[in-house]
Order: sequence, then structure tokens, then C-alpha cells
Amino acid sequence: MTKLERASFGSKLGVILATAGSAVGLGNIWRFPYMTGQNGGAVFIIIYVFCILLLGIPCMISEFIIGRHGQANTARAFRIMSGDTIWSLIGYMGVLTGFLISGYYAVVSGWCLEYVWASLSGKLLGNPDYIQSYFVTFSQDPIKPVFWTFIILLGTYIIIENGVRNGIEKASKLMMPILFILLLIIVVASCMLPNAEKGIEFLFKPDISKLNSDVFLAALGQSFYSLSIAMGCICTYASYYSKQTNLTASAVNISIIDFLVALLAGLIIFPAAFSVGVNPDSGPSLIFITLPNVFHQAFGNIASLGYIISVLFYTLLSMAALTSLMSLHEVSTAFLEEELGTTRKRAAMFVTIGSILVGTVCSLSLGPWQDFKLFDMTIFDLFDFVTGQLFLPIVGFLTCIFIGWYVPHKIVRDEFTNMGTLRNEHLFHSYIFLVKYVCPICILFIFLHQFGLL
Ligand code: PHE
Repeated sequence: MTKLERASFGSKLGVILATAGSAVGLGNIWRFPYMTGQNGGAVFIIIYVFCILLLGIPCMISEFIIGRHGQANTARAFRIMSGDTIWSLIGYMGVLTGFLISGYYAVVSGWCLEYVWASLSGKLLGNPDYIQSYFVTFSQDPIKPVFWTFIILLGTYIIIENGVRNGIEKASKLMMPILFILLLIIVVASCMLPNAEKGIEFLFKPDISKLNSDVFLAALGQSFYSLSIAMGCICTYASYYSKQTNLTASAVNISIIDFLVALLAGLIIFPAAFSVGVNPDSGPSLIFITLPNVFHQAFGNIASLGYIISVLFYTLLSMAALTSLMSLHEVSTAFLEEELGTTRKRAAMFVTIGSILVGTVCSLSLGPWQDFKLFDMTIFDLFDFVTGQLFLPIVGFLTCIFIGWYVPHKIVRDEFTNMGTLRNEHLFHSYIFLVKYVCPICILFIFLHQFGLL
């Protein structure tokens, strides 16, 4: 298998911010707070931290190793590492998962854009019933969500087409710091509200009575999703890392950033929700129905602060979504560019058109096509199920088995220690132990449990 001449990230900061950009997304700001709300607050967070340490970071390092060793798109990187055996299929599955997710991830990212627009034009200032009907009417509309999906994918295309350094790295270096600053501004505003301490207590005080096996499984699933594991993204980005990049340190830094953003999002949502007496466990609709009300009620009476906070929050959400969407897009773009031997521009164009088609189908399946069901699910739910509950655990599990049991440890060690220059041999043994035994067993456990088999 021939290795390819390819682009790379220009700096250490670029590596961290671009990969953290992939990890930080709707999962942190949208999914993490409501999962925490539904699973008992701080208990969930503690378990989540253990999942990141014991499973998330080792799996991320494994993808780093495969990507950087192969210096190629995910499918080819697995092919190079496996010597063209059947194990290469994991790479192809990763690419497919990344592509399928990018379609429906773009739909929800498009909703965020609509909410930037709606909050800017003052449409989110009505009463709770109005806000609820606003979301339902919008998400079921045949045109509007498709339009926003198109716009966010167009933005992604423009960045990706500009290449790794000029597109992905530049955009991440610009957007990630802005995202952090916006987060901090809103956290401060939210924590200063009356009764905010109740929300902070909810987030930080563990309630052991909520502990059960479902909380573990939810935390495990969330940690994988949040770190963008098993979808080809991490592997593809790592193929642009230099041979000097310290993979373990990068995985730790990226996980810390990812966790901090999720925690800060919690520090926005819970204090604001408690301050107006809203229950924060209202599921996925939290961000699009509950929150506009909460912002309006909590900040509304302080001049136009409610308006400003709402605009800032949805801008932040859209930027987080965009940096993740870029990484999903890059998985398929790198794949097509290298496997078809075409130009980057053309590959990016194909992927954009494909994602628009998938996104349109997903979006319509929530509106005009909502009665069309396969296996009793709308197409949107089917995509979510197939990618999140089937492919993600399968690819994650097989990647661990591949690295832990199949690839010669010498190759893994060389990548892990940067050819012996890092002197982190003792860490290597712990890493191998986790990847060989702990990760596959835990992933298998969630996989079987979600189908009621355990
Ligand atoms: N990690 C992203 C998030 O938290 C989601 C994502 C998954 C992005 C997989 C890319 C790949 O929202």
C-alpha cells in the first residue's frame, strides 16, 4: 500500500484546536446538559469523567495511532495498518458512519442557524406556548430547515475546500477562542441570576440514589459521542499530525477542553433554568423550546439582556456545530480525494451534495414524510439509531480489538512513544491494558444492554 504525499496541521495549537473543534459540538452544549438533567446531575458527571479517562482517551489514542501511522484517510489508514486484510473494513465503516452522521448533524446544525436568525429578529420573545409551537412548526416545515441545512453545509464546503491549514486549521483557530469567550460571558450572566445557586448545586452535588446501570451506559455513550470517536474524524485529523505530536498529551488536552465546554454549558443552562423554576430534564427539546423561554424570563426584564444572551448563545451553538461538521465532512472528502484520485475541490463538492441529499431526507422525515416509517422509526430516528447505536459501538469495539490484539505492539508502541523519544513506556502498558480488555468489554456491555440482551 503506497503512502500519500499530504497536507498537515501547521502548529501544535492548530492540532489541539482543530481536534477539540471536532469534539466540541452539539453533544456538549445540547446533549450533555439534558443527559445530566435526566441522569441525576453530579452523579452522572462523575461517572462521565471516569468513562473519559478509562475509555474515551484510550480509544482516541488508538485512532490517533492508526491515522498518524497511515498518513491517509480512515479507510486507507486501516488498510495500511492491517496489511490489506479484512480488518480494513472497519475503516470503511468509519467513513460511512461519518458520512451518514454528517447529513443529519447538518439538519440540527441548521436549526441552530435558524435560532440565531430568530433570536436576532426578536422572534423568540413570546410566551412559552408560542415558543413551543414555533419549534414544532419550524422543524416540520418542508422548506425552512432544508434551507438552513443547505446554508451550513455551504459554509462547511467553503472551509473544507480551502484545505487543512488554510481551511480547517484557520477556521478552528478563529472559532474556538470566540466560542470560549461567548461561553464565559453567558456563564457569568447565568450564574448571577437569583436562585442560580440551586442550579450550580444540582450540577455539583452528587445524588447517589440516582445511580443505576442506565446512568453508566448513558455516560459511556455520551463520552464516545462527545469525543467524536468511531466515526473516522479523529483518525482523519490525526493523519495530518506531525511525527512529533505527543498523542497522549493531545488526547488529554482535547478531552479536558471538551469536558470544560460541556460543564460550562451546564453552568449556563441549570442556573438559568432553576432561577425561573423550570425543570431541566426535559430531553432534547431543552435547547430549542425550554431555553428560549428561560432566557426570556430570566434576563428579559433586565433591559434587552434576554435578547443579547439568546443571540450569543445560538451563535455559540452554531459555531460549535460547524467545527464538528467540518470534521465529519473531512472524513469523506479525504476518502474521495485519495481513493478516487480526484481534486480536493471536487471531492468536497461531492460530499456536500451527498450530505445535502441525506440532510434533506432527514429533515423532511420530521415534517411532510413523518408518516413514512422503516422499522417503526422515521428516517431521522433511523439514522440516529443506525449510526449512534449500531455503527458507533461496532466500529469502536473493533478498533480496540484491532489495536489491542491484532496490530503488532511494536508498531503501536513506536507511534505511542514517537519512536521511543517520549519515554512514556509505563503509560504505554496501562494504555494497552485498557484497549485490550477494559474498552472492548465495556463497549460490548453497552451494545448488548441497549438491545435488552444483558
Ligand atoms: N463530538 C461532536 C459533538 O459533541 C459530535 C460528533 C460526533 C462530531 C462524531 C463529529 C463526529 O457534538
